[in-house]
Amino acid sequence: MAKAKSQLSPAAQATWGGRFSTGPAELMLRFSESVSFDKRLAPFDIAVNKAHSAMLAHVGLLTPPERDAIHRGLDEIAAEIAAGKFVWETKFEDVHMNIEQALTKRVPAAARLHTARSRNDQVATDVRLFFRYACEALMTRVRHLQANFVQLAEANADVLVPGYTHLQRAQPVSLMHHLLAYVEMLDRDAGRFAEVRAHANVCPLGAGAIAGTTLPIDREYTARALGFVDERGRVRVTTNSMDAVADRDVFIEFASACALAGVHLSRLAEDMILWSSAEFGFVDLSDAFCTGSSLMPQKRNPDAMELIRGKAARLQGNLQTLLTMVKGLPLTYNRDLQEDKVPAFDSFDQLALCLEVADGAMGGLRVKRARCVAAVADPALLATDLADWLVLRGVPFREAHHAVGGLVAAAEKLGCVLPDVPQAEAVKVHPGFKEGWREVFDLDRAMTRRGGIGMPGPTRVKAELRRWRKKLGLDRKA
Ligand code: ARG
Repeated sequence: MAKAKSQLSPAAQATWGGRFSTGPAELMLRFSESVSFDKRLAPFDIAVNKAHSAMLAHVGLLTPPERDAIHRGLDEIAAEIAAGKFVWETKFEDVHMNIEQALTKRVPAAARLHTARSRNDQVATDVRLFFRYACEALMTRVRHLQANFVQLAEANADVLVPGYTHLQRAQPVSLMHHLLAYVEMLDRDAGRFAEVRAHANVCPLGAGAIAGTTLPIDREYTARALGFVDERGRVRVTTNSMDAVADRDVFIEFASACALAGVHLSRLAEDMILWSSAEFGFVDLSDAFCTGSSLMPQKRNPDAMELIRGKAARLQGNLQTLLTMVKGLPLTYNRDLQEDKVPAFDSFDQLALCLEVADGAMGGLRVKRARCVAAVADPALLATDLADWLVLRGVPFREAHHAVGGLVAAAEKLGCVLPDVPQAEAVKVHPGFKEGWREVFDLDRAMTRRGGIGMPGPTRVKAELRRWRKKLGLDRKA
């Protein structure tokens, strides 16, 4: 049983301890601390402290020498943190109070730093800076992966594979087309991160704890100093102090964008897991991203892809955690919200890793051309083309579909492939199969005919490749 008395730590919490006769229990300190996970906000917190103290000096609430001393102290602390020499203390709860306490020890004027602000608007500002950074970092990684796919597509420009629906062979597509489908998904992911960044780019500082401040601050000054400006250089500040400290939309949007990107990577992973199996055999994943079995010597397991698939679940869990955390909270700040950082940081870290691993693993992908050629040679993949062939000869599509179905059944009965159904049998199925229908089974012809916008015909896909090269700036680099 806990001995409550001996667990009290009256020394802690000089920042809010005024009305308390004893400090929190050790257990409470351990329970309520967030410094173990929010210390990574330190660079952002220091930037916010600098901007805030500059603003306080600007409006006359600090003297310029006080401001300068605070800035020097913050620079020292930043250097100590970067060098791993800063001592983080659980008793100071979080990153904000750790930095403020350390600063106050060396700079007396730091006792004025928390003027006209609260940790509520401070943390809201710190995390917005974090999300700006995180979105940019993820966008860069997404672009990198897209470029990788474009290059992989180019290197295998002539490879065709069966496309699948219901995991059953459907119609032939080029490998390029398949890879470019992922480039499209990733493009929307990058777009979402750009949007989340724009939503994060509004400064909450000045909202105070809930209702602003009675002191004559200049919110736009601080916002500008922290780069909260739009593309036209107009300063952006939040317009309702209660919303500013209670809102966690950016967390949820960020986690949502991460979860969706994770879903895309997971589908890619699933494709690669299937394709690298003996049953498909379209690709070999590089040794560097596979592992063996401790028991079965022949095994080469696509663990990187499986982990990407697994982590996609974790990213969805993080989104769910945030949605659930916020849904029942009355306005405005509630301490529950301290828990918002764990899932948000985790989504960032895990998605960044997944993108990097996908990049590495796909970079080492070896396409097994012979297996692709053999699979795509299945004439059944062109059954729809044969129906189209009848349509061009005036047969209504429903009747054409039925006729080709009959031909497929006949082939099955005869134990042969579609184009080998004897002429006599074919006309029995439909009079349209008089002659010439076998030309449909020429794969090159079939692909060339798919030249429309968004289709996998060779000319069209090459034009798409050029478009992506241009969009991703690959030509400039070359
Ligand atoms: N560590 C806290 C958090 O992340 C900072 C805000 C604390 N505010 C408060 N009213 N206790 O949510």
